[in-house]
Parts: sequence; structure tokens; C-alpha cells
Amino acid sequence: MKVFSGSSNKPLAEKIAQKLNTKLSPLEIDVFPDSEKRVRVVDRVVEEDCVVVQSTSTPSDSNYMELFFIVDALKRSGAKSVTAVVPYLGYQRQDHIFRDGEAVSLQVIIETLERAGVSKLITFDLHSIKIPELFSIPVIHLSALELFANEIRKLEANKLDAVLVSPDMGGIRRIKILSEMLSNMPFAVIDKNRDPATGKISIKEIEGDVKGKQAIIVDDMISSGETIAKAVELLTKKGASNIFVFATHPVFSGNASKLLQNAPIEKIYVTDSIYVPVEKQFPKLEIISIANLICKSLKLYKI
Ligand code: R5P
Repeated sequence: MKVFSGSSNKPLAEKIAQKLNTKLSPLEIDVFPDSEKRVRVVDRVVEEDCVVVQSTSTPSDSNYMELFFIVDALKRSGAKSVTAVVPYLGYQRQDHIFRDGEAVSLQVIIETLERAGVSKLITFDLHSIKIPELFSIPVIHLSALELFANEIRKLEANKLDAVLVSPDMGGIRRIKILSEMLSNMPFAVIDKNRDPATGKISIKEIEGDVKGKQAIIVDDMISSGETIAKAVELLTKKGASNIFVFATHPVFSGNASKLLQNAPIEKIYVTDSIYVPVEKQFPKLEIISIANLICKSLKLYKI
């Protein structure tokens, strides 16, 4: 097996390669002055099973184009199979038509990935469990929840009066799974609404008791940080004693890092599904690696 990395999350790709007792295979990725990219496979890959690690986080378009080109280059160079490890699948929130006239952007991306020659996709904590159905190739949908459960067990919170909190109705399934992993830890759900035109968030109410409890918010991703900030505001108002946050994908757009650091949160746990540059890191942030889970799955599926 040969492991390649795009340029979006090399630290994760290196960890994966190291755990597989190998080194990243070289790729030439040139960027021209007009920002176009040129990709070239250096090693011989004829009849090889190849793995490409690329998170399609910001800049999503550019990271996707790079991934398409790497897959195309590998297939043209004779690779037997190409498994795309895309820990964060960009555009996943555009998986269906919300308003008349919209594109199904994720569908366009899926078709392009498949046409380029991806044989299998490994990804994490998709926004909707229906997304794998949009693919014609096998999708291995992994979750960081077991890593979060381990961390929550270590928290003082687990021994006290703790409650898991989903910041929106869409997260109920996730929170129920985690609650089961944690011997039926109680959970609460916030009724959040996002205006599809402006993206503005409003929070109505919370179902479940949080008064005097340690609240553990769990979400799939943090982008602007608005969802978490609003949830924290409500939990504080409702008398939660202290607040922890767990989210798989640290998208961290705009002012998110500052917003999170300044919010009354004890600690924020994310994964390395997306590389967080030093300037976006902050003292309350803890990054847990998903490299082991990816390696286990590569071995399990004999890639
Ligand atoms: C929404 O349904 C997702 O689960 C996240 O809560 C959301 O995408 C986070 O976005 P933001 O940080 O911009 O509020």
C-alpha cells in the first residue's frame, strides 16, 4: 500500500503513514502564479493500492481540485485502487435542495470524485447519515464519538451531575449514541433555527434539565462558532454549572477561535480531521487525533 498526501492536512497523513510503518510517497504539487495547480506522481504505482489523505476544508474548492488531480494522476499511472481518506468532507451541508433553484453541490463533488477514479472513501462524522447513499462507491463512515467518550470518562464531569447537550435537533442521533456509550448519561437538546438565506442562528428553548449540571455540548463541526456561542449563552442562562464542548471538525472560520476562547467554556475538544494552524489555536483547545481509527479501518478493509 502507498500513502499519499494532499496539502491540506499533511500532519495527519504523516501520522497515518507512520502508524502503518511506512513513509508518505512523494507527489509533486506545483502552484502556478495564476493559482492553477499541477500534480505529478513521482513513484511507480502500477498495480498498487493507493491511499490519498486530503481534508477538503478551507479553501475547499482548491483542496477538492487538488484531490481530483491526485486521484487522476494515480489512475493514469496505473494504480490498482485509490482510497480517498477525506476526514472532513467539504460541501457536506449542501447535500440536498433547501430552496428552489439551488444546486446540490455535494452531488456534483461526489460524481467528480467517482469519475476521477476513487474506489473507496473513508470519512468522519458526516452531517447527515444519508450522505453515503449519494455515493456509488463504498463509503466507510467513521466517528470520533468513541474518542470523545474516552475523554468524557476522564473528566471530573462524568463523576458528577453531567448532561450531554446537542446544540440542535439534527444532533439527537449523535447525542443518543454517545449517551449509550456513557452508561446512559442524560441528555438535553436545544431547539436551534438557522435562516437558510442569511445563515443567522436563533435559539428558542432547551428540552432537558441542565440546572446546576456540568453541560457537555457535542456537535459535528464548529464553523463560525455561532452555534456553540448561542448554546453556551442559553446554558448559562439556564443555570448550567460549567460547560465543555466536543466537536469533530474544527472548521474555525472567521472569528471562531476568538469567540470560543472568550466564551465561558472550560475546554473545547476537536479532532485533527482538519489541520488547525497555530494562529487559530487557543489555550482552551485540545486536539485529539483520529489517525489510529483511520489505520484500523484501512487494515480492517484490507486496503
Ligand atoms: C449544524 O447543523 C451543524 O451541526 C453545526 O452546528 C454547524 O454547522 C456549526 O456552524 P457554526 O459554527 O457556523 O454555527
